[in-house]
Amino acid sequence: MKRNTFYVTTPIYYVNDVPHIGHSYTTIAADVLARYHELTGKEVFLLTGTDEHGIKVQESALKAGEAPQEFCDRIAAQFMKAWQALGINYSNFIRTTDDHHVKAVQYVLQKLYDGGHIYKGKYEALYCMGCEQYKTAGDLVNGKCPDHKIEPEIRSEECYLFKLSEHQERLLRLIRDDELKIRPQERKNEMVSFLEKEELQDISISRMREKVSWGIPLPFDESHTTYVWVDAFLNYLTGLGWPEDKENFELFWPASIQLMAKDILRVHATIWPAILIAIGIAPPVEYFIHGYFTVNGEKMSKSLGNVIDPIELSVNYGPDVIRYFILSEFPFGADGDFSTRRLEESFNSDLANDLGNLLHRTVPMMEKYCQRLVPTPGALDDLEKDLKAKSEEVVAGLDNLLGELKFREALALIWEFVGKANKYIDSAAPWALAREDKRERLDTVMYSIMEAIRIIVILISSFMPETASKMWDQIGIEESLGSQTLPKDAAWGGLKSGLEVKHAAPLFPRIQ
Ligand code: MSP
Repeated sequence: MKRNTFYVTTPIYYVNDVPHIGHSYTTIAADVLARYHELTGKEVFLLTGTDEHGIKVQESALKAGEAPQEFCDRIAAQFMKAWQALGINYSNFIRTTDDHHVKAVQYVLQKLYDGGHIYKGKYEALYCMGCEQYKTAGDLVNGKCPDHKIEPEIRSEECYLFKLSEHQERLLRLIRDDELKIRPQERKNEMVSFLEKEELQDISISRMREKVSWGIPLPFDESHTTYVWVDAFLNYLTGLGWPEDKENFELFWPASIQLMAKDILRVHATIWPAILIAIGIAPPVEYFIHGYFTVNGEKMSKSLGNVIDPIELSVNYGPDVIRYFILSEFPFGADGDFSTRRLEESFNSDLANDLGNLLHRTVPMMEKYCQRLVPTPGALDDLEKDLKAKSEEVVAGLDNLLGELKFREALALIWEFVGKANKYIDSAAPWALAREDKRERLDTVMYSIMEAIRIIVILISSFMPETASKMWDQIGIEESLGSQTLPKDAAWGGLKSGLEVKHAAPLFPRIQ
């Protein structure tokens, strides 16, 4: 019987850019999904990494005055540092310069070559002598290079081509019939209509080594290096240890969900599944295409100087604030705008006022009214029944929402419960019960508040792991948070009595 597993991937990011908030978006979403599926009892694999070959990296290294490998090592380390700062619990960080990956890419290329999927041909393109660069028709003005005012010549370069055109029909069926699901629906429609209308061309999968030296040599012709996308796609297999680690591969492949933004959907909907078909491996189950976002209304770019550094952001606000904000601010499939002003507003209202306050008003009440011990509950009144019903609604609802990758809606649902718990405290007014010495009722109320907090902690733990473990510690539960599972341990009534709360600094002191 197939074990209950979940395999999620992010794109592997180019090392010619430094990690920014855009890459962080995909990676945080993948981490939340991985943690959530783990919480529901699955064996989980989260893969991320860096895409390190090709002309762009070769040139960036040259510009930085570093040897390509040295350059890649430095930037890959920055990505790892960023993911550590954001609490990303990846199972593997794959680098395309890993020896194992390089060998596996050569193995696939040889297999494709032997299977007749690759042939030798010519790559033809426009070339401007002035720029010493290939040009596309779109680069030209009145047919001439805008910088050198000369007509480019047609240059052809020997290369190897992959027979992508042979796969058109199969790819169309694959996507149209949801054998490879693409969500949201409009992204699937775009790809179906692309595959219906555009004729797929065979693609060049190599460059002459004298032009692009920073790449994996073709095993059957070492004077060529591998096209970076072919190299990159295979990370999704090699990151699992494929082809050597058959057991891990069989456990997790096909990928449950591959996350990306729309910029790289088309290549993922054509070249990637076509390679898999050609080598006889099942396609991934699903892609989810999230939105693209700008910063303070502008596209993020090094030249505009508005690239948001996740490490700096994490130092300023803490990882969970970023994780919460980025997923609660916009619907996952839609484009959005990132602003620190909005981040601070959301921090003050949702984190400081709602969640932080819930805990910080409770701990002193526990100390005062319950001698620091969790009381045993008595009979439930309507107020408690209402709170309990809400917790059950949220636990059940979360699963559906996260199944649809509705992170924003999932957080909003959890926050309804946070709001409900705060209102419960106002209505049940434990301070009045203490004044009137209604001991039994006071115990029930304090139990219910603590129970609501316990369930909230389990529910937020995938989104805000650091906060969850701090809160868990403060409410004094001895079993580890990591041993909790959903929905079982989030059922009302799981709180054991006789535990000690701990005073600690506020989790989210308001930003003035
Ligand atoms: N190396 C390729 C991917 C190869 S995967 C086999 C690549 N790298 S990239 O560094 O450009 O990363 C692109 C991805 O980063 C996007 O698809 C998205 O996941 C993420 N994002 C980068 N900038 C982003 C935004 N501004 N907004 C949202 N996501 C962004 O393409």
